[in-house]
Amino acid sequence: MPERIPKRLIIVSNRLPFQLIKQANRTEIKESDGGLVSALKSYFEGDRDGQIQFDSILWIGSAEFSEKAWMDFDKDELEKLPYTVEPIFIDKKVYHKYYNGFCNATLWPLFHYFPSFVEFDNKTFAAYEEVNQQFSERILMTLTPGDILWIHDYQLMLLPSMVRKKLPDATIGFFLHIPFPSFEIFRLLHRPWKEKLTEGLLGADLIGFHTHEYVQHFLKTVQMVKGYDHQFRTILLPDRVLKAEMFPLGIDFSKFHNAALLHQVMERKTEIKSNFADKKIIFSVDRLDYTKGITHRLAGFESFLENHPEWREKIVFILVVVPSRQIVSKYNERKKLIEEEIGGINGRYATLGWQPIIYRYNYLSFHELVSMYNVADIGLITPLRDGMNLVAKEYVASQTDRGVLILSELAGAANELGEAILVNPMDKDEMSDAILQAVLMPAETQRQKIQVLQQRLKDYTVTHWLADFLRQLEETKQHQRTQQTK
Ligand code: F6P
Repeated sequence: MPERIPKRLIIVSNRLPFQLIKQANRTEIKESDGGLVSALKSYFEGDRDGQIQFDSILWIGSAEFSEKAWMDFDKDELEKLPYTVEPIFIDKKVYHKYYNGFCNATLWPLFHYFPSFVEFDNKTFAAYEEVNQQFSERILMTLTPGDILWIHDYQLMLLPSMVRKKLPDATIGFFLHIPFPSFEIFRLLHRPWKEKLTEGLLGADLIGFHTHEYVQHFLKTVQMVKGYDHQFRTILLPDRVLKAEMFPLGIDFSKFHNAALLHQVMERKTEIKSNFADKKIIFSVDRLDYTKGITHRLAGFESFLENHPEWREKIVFILVVVPSRQIVSKYNERKKLIEEEIGGINGRYATLGWQPIIYRYNYLSFHELVSMYNVADIGLITPLRDGMNLVAKEYVASQTDRGVLILSELAGAANELGEAILVNPMDKDEMSDAILQAVLMPAETQRQKIQVLQQRLKDYTVTHWLADFLRQLEETKQHQRTQQTK
């Protein structure tokens, strides 16, 4: 019998899923709360009948710590993790041009339909190529037959074809966590960049997107930039076929739903409620990002206070903003605008006993976050553009009884959460009407909608997403093999 080749899953992402935290005289690992981490854990720990079995997982990503800190660190700590890791140490200046430059001042604004924010700089593109090249070299040093390579997100779009060139038979999946824009937007990139980015992705065997629309945009781009046709989402390259498919990212439903029932969360909820007795609570939480539509949301809330004065002193908006990408200038400008806007609204409407907006610029612990979701009568999630938006899904999962989700129709999640009140995030009067509809919605209607939404989230969790992607990657590979033997 031929010897069985061990199957290894290699996850590649810009960030590693943990940080090194210095505690007095020792350094510890702190894992991030990210969905991918919990999906991998539940995939490995849960019932894997009928799913692809892996012998091990390796995670490759850029290091947020120095090479020295890594060398000095007690590697026994790594035993805690269900995967092995390979950090890549990138020169600080190169990383700055890559991450703050091409990734977050060019690709991010363009893919989120902010073309006027896009910076065009050949130096940052060169850094982007260099970092992708470093990832490629590291992968090529470790990749063995039987490995499945799964590359994540817009920071690494050149990587699939860099690896493919050296290893034509490799199994390579790619998932884009942000929107893929329409060709009219994508075409605004400098010509060599758009060609290289498209070619880069075509090195994969399966390319996943959150929505059907993003898949269609990508197929159109491939046709326009490279001239390759497609049939039923299968792209026909001269030497092989590959697939572009929709995989709407889910959440770890039970993690949020069960946490909402915990005693400590219940207690915190009672505490928050008593601070705002007899008031409706609106809640939102976002990374500080211009794509999240925070200033537009504030304008919508102000419209509500203006159009419905009877609700003044009876409603409060708790707005949590989490620091992010502070070096990129557009992010800092946004912080100032948000804070000015909040000051203005509070100044105009507050009374001695009431402040309309409670603002926090900070990180929330997981339990604090679930308490906030659970206590909120309304989750107001109104990005101007968002690949998916998991906050909307977390808000729904954290409800024990009722709650109303108001969601931007420009978030990928709107495709799945049709029972929410969907709004145009740019239209403040529509947002004001939606808030009124939410505060007046009968408890029974809320309960029914939440039940339907929760069932949908249970039916396709992040673990289903992961298993679905890996299964289709394997099928695409099989399909290629049968095509080759014909
Ligand atoms: O939504 C895309 C994404 O890259 C997520 O994967 C990530 O959580 C978020 O944006 C923040 O990204 P960054 O790594 O730049 O902080």
